Amino acid sequence: MDIPGYTFGTAAVTRSPITLAEFERMKHSVAFSDDDVRWLRTSRTILEPQVEAVLDVWYGFVGSQPHLVAAFGSVHDGMPLADYLAAVRRRFGRWILDTADARYDQQWLDYQHEIGRRHHRLGKNQTDGAAAVSHIPFRDLFLLVVPITATLTPFLAIQGHDQESVQRMHDAWVKSCLLQVTLWSHPYVKDGDF
Ligand code: HEM
Repeated sequence: MDIPGYTFGTAAVTRSPITLAEFERMKHSVAFSDDDVRWLRTSRTILEPQVEAVLDVWYGFVGSQPHLVAAFGSVHDGMPLADYLAAVRRRFGRWILDTADARYDQQWLDYQHEIGRRHHRLGKNQTDGAAAVSHIPFRDLFLLVVPITATLTPFLAIQGHDQESVQRMHDAWVKSCLLQVTLWSHPYVKDGDF
């Protein structure tokens, strides 16, 4: 499956300024364990056939809030750019599977940094050549973890897993999102402060 602009594991991605050893300690800070990795893997099988439906809900959430959809807005008139939304959506779908499957190796770490750059003015719009606003404000990055993971729960429950299993998958997703968004924040943090 060739997804335009999806450069995970390629030479186009620069090295993360965070080391694997530092990331290992971040995992401890959020109490992310091998159990969480197993629950994320379980969620992959459940979510894979539902990726488009999940994206419909997430895009619906962002699309319903002018201050969020503004990030996809034209630099000229602020109107959402349909091509840009569609291009990012394909990589977002792949991200669902990558989050459930993550191996937390150097390539994964490097792509996290790339995703951070793509939210920040350092790299936003470049992947799709979009004529959109140049930057996503930091203030909304972490907040989106709640709607993204809360709306996942019905999708995780669809195969009839018991409540405890669904909760464990949800918790693992929250931790993984927090770890990733923290890594994505690097370009937003003053030099020496991360
Ligand atoms: C938990 C928080 C968030 C998650 C999980 C998330 C996830 C993603 C993913 C997976 C991508 C595609 C990465 C790739 O190119 O491979 C992406 C890109 C993008 N996201 Fe987010 N995002 C979050 C927060 C936000 C917020 C708060 C906004 C704006 C209000 C936003 C707007 C965008 C835009 C405009 C792009 C395209 C950037 C580009 O030009 O390449 N995201 N996001």
